[in-house]
Amino acid sequence: MSSAAANPDSISESLLAFWADAGVDAMLLDEAVDRIAAGRIAPPKPPERKIAPVAAPSPARAAQPDVSAAVAQAQALAEAADSLEALAAAIAGFDGCPLKFEGAASQAVVYRGHADAPVMVIGEGPGADEDRQGQPFVGRAGQLLDRMLSAAGLTDRVLITNTVFWRPPGNRTPTPAEQAVCAPFVARAIALVKPKMLLLVGGASAKAMLQKDEGILSMRGRWHDWRSSDGALELPALPTLHPAFLLRQPAAKKRAWADLLTLTERLDQPERPIA
Ligand code: URA
Repeated sequence: MSSAAANPDSISESLLAFWADAGVDAMLLDEAVDRIAAGRIAPPKPPERKIAPVAAPSPARAAQPDVSAAVAQAQALAEAADSLEALAAAIAGFDGCPLKFEGAASQAVVYRGHADAPVMVIGEGPGADEDRQGQPFVGRAGQLLDRMLSAAGLTDRVLITNTVFWRPPGNRTPTPAEQAVCAPFVARAIALVKPKMLLLVGGASAKAMLQKDEGILSMRGRWHDWRSSDGALELPALPTLHPAFLLRQPAAKKRAWADLLTLTERLDQPERPIA
């Protein structure tokens, strides 16, 4: 008897080496063994998740911060801007909106479109794509908006902007305080472009622009009056559904389309001669 044959360890080793050379890398029994039921392995623990306790909103937290100083500063900067380019530069240099330091990774997102457009489209606020590219409505929702505007013959007749100019963190809805701080710039853009009407895209835009606490589904498709805070400007405004909502609820597209037809019908009405 050789010494190798006498040593069970070396027999096992050479057998394993032989199987490994033959490409065998696992050994299975004919029947599966439930080792958890057999008590040999503890059941896997669900991954530990760190969930921050959700505090009930206290009246103090729910209250909006006092932004009157930031609004006054925005007002002064906006009034001094005598062109859209100057307005965009003033917005980019303005530090009074906290979103600039919270959600925005890169830059202010101000407007795109035609400076003499008869329709001003006002959305909610930039998302990640807009933040990256520096232009409003350029992500998936924006592409749908563009297709809808094109189908309605409005591509060259709009200027597109938002109620806030920096991306809210996690794409949350901008707060009324954030919208209030940006409002003087939005109003100045309207004064400079002098559109005939506003298309308010989504509930957060319609509520902020019209100062109404009504749901978008009841506001949409009806004409409302937008007035600047000093009362100097007044325009018809049509709320409609947000394209991000339409991406989730395609069946609602027909209502948004009906809204666009309502808008184009009014836009293309011949101006009444003054009697
Ligand atoms: N949603 C908006 O409301 N505005 C944008 O610019 C992009 C997405």
